[in-house]
Amino acid sequence: MSMCWVNGRFVDEAAATLSIFDRGTLFGDGVYEVAAVYNGGLLDADLHLARLERSMAEIQITPTLSASAWLSVMQGLVHQNAIREGLVYLQVTRGVAERDFPFPRDAVPSMFAYARPKRYGDDPNVRGVSLHVVPDQRWDRCDIKSTSMLAQVLAKQSARAAGAFEAMMHDRGTVTEGGSSTLWIVQHGTLLTRPLSHDILAGITRDVVLELASREGIPVLERAFTVDDARQAEECVLTSATNFVLPVTRIDESVIGTGEPGPIALRLRDAYLARAATRTQT
Ligand code: PDD
Repeated sequence: MSMCWVNGRFVDEAAATLSIFDRGTLFGDGVYEVAAVYNGGLLDADLHLARLERSMAEIQITPTLSASAWLSVMQGLVHQNAIREGLVYLQVTRGVAERDFPFPRDAVPSMFAYARPKRYGDDPNVRGVSLHVVPDQRWDRCDIKSTSMLAQVLAKQSARAAGAFEAMMHDRGTVTEGGSSTLWIVQHGTLLTRPLSHDILAGITRDVVLELASREGIPVLERAFTVDDARQAEECVLTSATNFVLPVTRIDESVIGTGEPGPIALRLRDAYLARAATRTQT
């Protein structure tokens, strides 16, 4: 049984409960974050907490916990659950109120967090993963890390049913992002990923990989690409806080590049792991 944190208290998983009147449950009226635990420490927790604050501001939830208090909660979960490699999930909703769509006048935000183990060091997905192409059926504010995620649930279920690791979502042929990841391609030796806008989440891993690519001397451009570009690319790459950097070797029936993990993907993964080893907070 794991230790969780709910509204200010560390509690056993069985006691970690929320009201059925929580607006997170009724409306998906909340935001969340997922940060990796690596080498026994939190990876880029500061960046995830800054994005949490931004997501909250975008949906007008006033923070009731500071970033440093959240960091203590996350560290508490890592220690109490003895996680060496894994993740911390945290969520804030608008709180508990009678079911009515507009904001309640006096609701107090609900908060919870938990930690889970996950292996990164010997991840078999490093040998290459597959994507399944689906239309992006989401709303106009995909930059907000919202808990309303029915479109991603359907996209990722469709990917799983097709035997793929992740969905490649597109808007009229132009790739937006993965179901829960940022997508990249290598075209004529240049690494491409879609520029930031309301159409995609500003991935923390995306930001880090952009910086690592520049440092590694890999030509990189924030430019949109199509599903056809991706199918014909030299490489395709997937990034997220809980997958780090993974090579994509297949998009539905199309084999990408040689069908083996690409050299740029592997270089970026190595650079990411090297950075992670020095940046974790215990
Ligand atoms: N998802 N795009 C979407 C739609 C995402 O849900 C995620 C992350 C990303 C990558 O963002 P980051 O690099 O900050 O993890 C991009 C998390 C991991 C999840 O929902 O589990």
